[in-house]
Amino acid sequence: MDAWLAALREAMPEEEIRAWPDSGDPEEIEVVVTMAPEPGSLRRYRRLRFIAATGAGVDALLDPVREVPTDVPIVKLQDPRLAEDMALYVLAATMRYFRQFHEYEALQERRTWRQLPRPQLSEFAVAVMGLGTLGRCAAGLLAKVGFPVLGWSRTAKALPGVQCFVGPDGLDAMLPNARTLVCLLPLTDATEGMINGSLLSRLPHGAFLINAGRGGHVVEADLLEALETGRLAHATLDVFRAEPLSSEHPFWSHPRITLTPHVASLTEPLSAAQTIAATLRLARLGRPLPGEVDRERGY
Ligand code: NDP
Ligand code: OXD
Repeated sequence: MDAWLAALREAMPEEEIRAWPDSGDPEEIEVVVTMAPEPGSLRRYRRLRFIAATGAGVDALLDPVREVPTDVPIVKLQDPRLAEDMALYVLAATMRYFRQFHEYEALQERRTWRQLPRPQLSEFAVAVMGLGTLGRCAAGLLAKVGFPVLGWSRTAKALPGVQCFVGPDGLDAMLPNARTLVCLLPLTDATEGMINGSLLSRLPHGAFLINAGRGGHVVEADLLEALETGRLAHATLDVFRAEPLSSEHPFWSHPRITLTPHVASLTEPLSAAQTIAATLRLARLGRPLPGEVDRERGY
């Protein structure tokens, strides 16, 4: 809270920034900055211009239990810092697989000196599901490094260095060519549970998975089975259905899973506050708001 208050005050010195729940007269509040408000807590702010999400994913804000007013625009965070941070995470995880660090770590455990045959960069295609603010940036960085990059989205895209696929048929065409599959999708009714046995069975044998979208994208039992059969060689997971991940969860000790605690990309309040300030200026001018969520689509 302190970091956010300081950042918002620095980005908007002319505005009065109040900390919830001491927000004073609710009629005076123009913008709420939040990620997962307490159920019903936003109802009393009846003069909101918009709700500013402190992250890129708005699945929590759209969850009906939160009772977020449906007539107020929700603006997801489209922050270049967030996108660059995510691109570096995806590149790091991809590089680890490409240069076989995961295998050398396992060999080191067994004190085994073995030089493994190395794949060519040109054979190591990376497929990115979701070509939004984050997916585009990650795909662009991977392409710059020299990986063949495939990308998948709901609507057609043309991105330099990325072979773009669209819709269900596009997914079918893309998956068999993906040595590494990266998920940077939003969690919606359409994407919930989509990383399941059927999808994983369409990847080449021994593929890698990097999930930094949401835990709800993955059917956990199907992922474990794909690791068991060798369909997946290894998975890097940053997000989970229930966070924090319970200490009993089998992912913690799985030899072919690397997990990180939802840190692939962390919102930087100073950078995000600049974006929120710019959105407020546009809202006061009655202009369209970049990043406005389409409630029907769910992202
Ligand atoms: P955007 O809304 O900018 O982009 C979403 C992308 O997913 C778009 O390309 C969209 O297609 C595509 N998409 C959505 N639904 C479908 C579908 N049914 N089929 C195919 N493609 C689909 O989101 P961001 O890039 O900003 O963020 C993506 C997600 O990353 C967030 O929702 C959040 O869950 C996660 N995230 C994770 C973080 C972490 O630290 N692990 C940090 C920040 C975000 P189209 O372009 O056609 O609309
Ligand atoms: C986000 C996140 O959605 O941190 O920004 O997951």
